[in-house]
Amino acid sequence: MSEKDVLILAIESSCDETAAAVVKNGREVLSNIISSQIELHKLYGGVVPEIASRKHIEKINQVIEEALIEAGVTLEDMDAIGVTYGPGLVGALLVGVAEAKAISYAAGKPLVGVHHIEGHISANFIENKELEPPFPCLIVSGGHTHLVLVEDYGKYKILGRTRDDAAGEAFDKVARAIGLGYPGGPKIDKLSKEGNPEAINFPKAHVADAPYDFSFSGLKSAVLNYLNGCKMRGEEICQADVAASFQKAVVDVLVEHAMMAVKEYGYDKLALAGGVASNSGLRSAMKEACEKNHIKLYYPSPILCTDNAAMIGAAAYYEYKNGTRSGLDLNAVPNLKLGER
Ligand code: KG4
Ligand code: ZN
Repeated sequence: MSEKDVLILAIESSCDETAAAVVKNGREVLSNIISSQIELHKLYGGVVPEIASRKHIEKINQVIEEALIEAGVTLEDMDAIGVTYGPGLVGALLVGVAEAKAISYAAGKPLVGVHHIEGHISANFIENKELEPPFPCLIVSGGHTHLVLVEDYGKYKILGRTRDDAAGEAFDKVARAIGLGYPGGPKIDKLSKEGNPEAINFPKAHVADAPYDFSFSGLKSAVLNYLNGCKMRGEEICQADVAASFQKAVVDVLVEHAMMAVKEYGYDKLALAGGVASNSGLRSAMKEACEKNHIKLYYPSPILCTDNAAMIGAAAYYEYKNGTRSGLDLNAVPNLKLGER
């Protein structure tokens, strides 16, 4: 480790993963510990906020300790503590924020509050050492669907966002409707491989006057109507065809919007981020479109697409370098907007 190296202990607890990581110079992950609560929330078909907060409290110290041990470092070695302070579930966020503030105070280390979406975007820096802004990024997760121009580290221009459901939310709701359980994204992804994406023609919603915005609630309703129609007519439903046709409707819109952005703004690269970025249908369709248009496509490994603290460490590093410091009055901001502090 050289004198100039910057080590960050990062903490993430915005939803149902309690996570801690140690990241060196923003791009090298020394440890990335994730304690997932999925098994607990499965029982209820979705994340129960109160349960999430309680579990974070139980797990957070252990997860941080493991992250330090696995990285072979101590708190003393850290240059800063990075933590997600929004957006997310308020009770869940508060656990990470309170923990990070306590560590920052006790160890005398600067505190850097991180925007969760900035974390997702920054996951791309970890495995793609050559990737640098500016580039457009499509963030598709359980809570967010944003098409963003990453103009510089920490500097974003939002081109479009969802008007209603997030892409991952639509995956989860449709999966529930066809009886696949939670979380639906990976299950629909898997089942789609056995289905015919052309079997059912689900609508691809476009928002008038806002070509980069997304809307997925109409698609979700169309799937529900289709299922109800089949039930009323006594027809059997082919789950795989519904999954594949739904997935195609989502993927087509995501690819269309992303291609429109790279062309209009003249970029030769594009990044994907968020849980849905690990969807195999999205990856292959986007890859194909990018190859056709001579655009280099970046996306993180699946483990860095879904919530983790390594991505928060990457984002915290660039915020730290830009001079961002949070006070001990840092609070959780459940509806924090990208680009706001
Ligand atoms: O980024 P993430 O872990 O959490 C948020 O910040 O929201 O994303 C979780 C979302 C869930 O909706 C999950 O169903 C979806 O990502 N997801 C997927 C896949 N893996 C996770 N959606 C489609 N295909 C996948 N392979
Ligand atoms: Zn997330």
